[in-house]
Amino acid sequence: MGVLIGAAGPPIRLLSVATKLVTRDSSRTANNRAVHSTVFRKVLMAVTGLFLILFLLMHMFGNLKLLIPDGGLEEFDEYSHYLRMFLYPVLPPKFFLWVFRLVLLLCAVVHIEAATRLTFRDYDARMGMGRYLKQRYLAGSFAARTMIWSGIIILVGVIFHLLQFTTQTITVGYLGSVAPHLRVILGFQHWWLVLLYAFWVGLVSFHVYHGFYSAFCTLGARVGAFSAKVIKICSVIVALLVFFGFMASPLAILFGLVTA
Ligand code: HEM
Repeated sequence: MGVLIGAAGPPIRLLSVATKLVTRDSSRTANNRAVHSTVFRKVLMAVTGLFLILFLLMHMFGNLKLLIPDGGLEEFDEYSHYLRMFLYPVLPPKFFLWVFRLVLLLCAVVHIEAATRLTFRDYDARMGMGRYLKQRYLAGSFAARTMIWSGIIILVGVIFHLLQFTTQTITVGYLGSVAPHLRVILGFQHWWLVLLYAFWVGLVSFHVYHGFYSAFCTLGARVGAFSAKVIKICSVIVALLVFFGFMASPLAILFGLVTA
């Protein structure tokens, strides 16, 4: 306590920060405090983030069907149709797809909410405790410090992506509505779209690299130097898989290896 008062400038300011913290905590029950705790939010962020990575890997493997030499384009469309008709006629058409979309949306909302609160909490702490926490913050990796920014750009990219490929509100290379494989092929014949996607998918991979590592640390998998190394290697592999797996089809289309 003495060290902090000496380091953080005027004692009055520290006192006001401390008072704020005590007041904030004492007004809550133990359960309430647990639900709003940093650890709980980090766990929420880790679990939802890992689910979103799982979706990314499934989506990426689905997209790779475009590269299958004979009949790949038909398989790609069939896969898109299959997602809509999954569990039909037990369930109505598109029922499973909508449940899946809602779960995905819920995960994204919880992930973004937790990330925003943790960022503001960290910012509050730095403002209150001055240069000691600032030094710790500067020591963090580049990926860790830029997660919130890469996350915001990824979100903007997802909105563009859905407008392009799901609702077809923005179309590139065609007008109206066409089969799923044509949306992709006619779009990625344009170099600027491939470049835009390379930037976006690059950011997604960078976010996945740090997110994957952080999530396993939060969930307690890093128990020593060896496990830290294994998690790091896995996060590099997953990030590279996401980047090259997603960019393989746009590049193959751009260089004329896949045509409509
Ligand atoms: C070059 C890379 C990508 C390509 C070619 C691609 C292609 C597509 C296509 C064709 C669809 C529409 C599927 C359909 O309606 O049947 C789609 C949907 C979607 N994509 Fe991508 N995608 C790519 C990367 C990504 C990335 C990196 C993300 C996430 C960050 C993502 C998230 C989504 C989501 C959330 C949907 C909507 C799924 C739904 O209909 O519920 N995609 N994508």
